[in-house]
Amino acid sequence: MHKIGFLGCGNMARAIIGGILAKGIVAPGEIIASARTQATIDAAHERFGIDVTLDNAEACKASVVFLAVKPQMYESVIAEAAPHFSSETVLVSIAPGKTLAWLSDASGLAKVVRLMPNTPAAVGEGMTSVVIGKGCSAEDADLVLEIVDSFGKSERIPEHLMDAASAAAGCSPAYVYMMIEAMADAAVLEGMPRAQAYRFAAQAVVGAGKMVLESGQHPGALKDAVCSPGGTTIEGVRTLEACGFRSSVTEALIATVDKARSL
Ligand SMILES: NC(=O)c1ccc[n+]([C@@H]2O[C@H](COP(=O)([O-])OP(=O)(O)OC[C@H]3O[C@@H](n4cnc5c(N)ncnc54)[C@H](OP(=O)(O)O)[C@@H]3O)[C@@H](O)[C@H]2O)c1
Repeated sequence: MHKIGFLGCGNMARAIIGGILAKGIVAPGEIIASARTQATIDAAHERFGIDVTLDNAEACKASVVFLAVKPQMYESVIAEAAPHFSSETVLVSIAPGKTLAWLSDASGLAKVVRLMPNTPAAVGEGMTSVVIGKGCSAEDADLVLEIVDSFGKSERIPEHLMDAASAAAGCSPAYVYMMIEAMADAAVLEGMPRAQAYRFAAQAVVGAGKMVLESGQHPGALKDAVCSPGGTTIEGVRTLEACGFRSSVTEALIATVDKARSL
């Protein structure tokens, strides 16, 4: 029997599978993924060496089943899958907005888990929020956490913080990519080759993130430390403030929370 199943094999499933296999948590043959189209499952098999199927029922037989389809597909895919779960199946949602109570009702399963991973999982730098349902045993929780920790960092949080965590880590990579793109555009405008500009901008973001995590300093203090009096950086800070940079980011995250609550 497969240990881990994926219903859906898109961006997020591939990121998770890549992370799991990179850390060797399970062998490729212990993972099975389903999707809607032959092209998707062929590509997943070729890339990861995992078992693949067009039949969701096959993937439902795994011990831990990730629901890796779009939130709008959850209802129909769970309805199709439910007859094929065993009472011991651990069902893992990675979608925003679907509560533990909803998942349990829809699937008939006691063992349900909510995760909000992000695509940096593909390079082992994921940040995943975890809510483990009361029906899960300590062993189930250990297995889920072992899987999640294989592709980055994770933290267990109360369920009411899931939408906030989704905004802060699940969606935010998209906004960071936009910022990297914009930073690189400016460097290109000044004559830097584009590939080099992406390396400079991306490494600056990696380094700044590590400074926040490892220095223990407030982000504002770290920002102040980069801004010499009368210097170049403070000119950029002034311009960002004039353009509403921080409020734009905050509003964007609040919009994602609102959307998650509407799903
Ligand atoms: N992308 C992110 O950064 C991110 C972050 C956190 C959470 N999530 C969550 O992760 C979930 C998946 O998102 P995604 O970005 O990976 O989506 P995606 O790239 O569009 O992948 C969706 C997958 O679902 C498959 N699918 C569609 N209908 C199906 C069905 N009836 N049965 C089985 N498989 C079916 C698709 O198959 P085909 O390829 O054959 O069409 C595709 O492989 C969503 O709930 C999303 O909210 C995503």
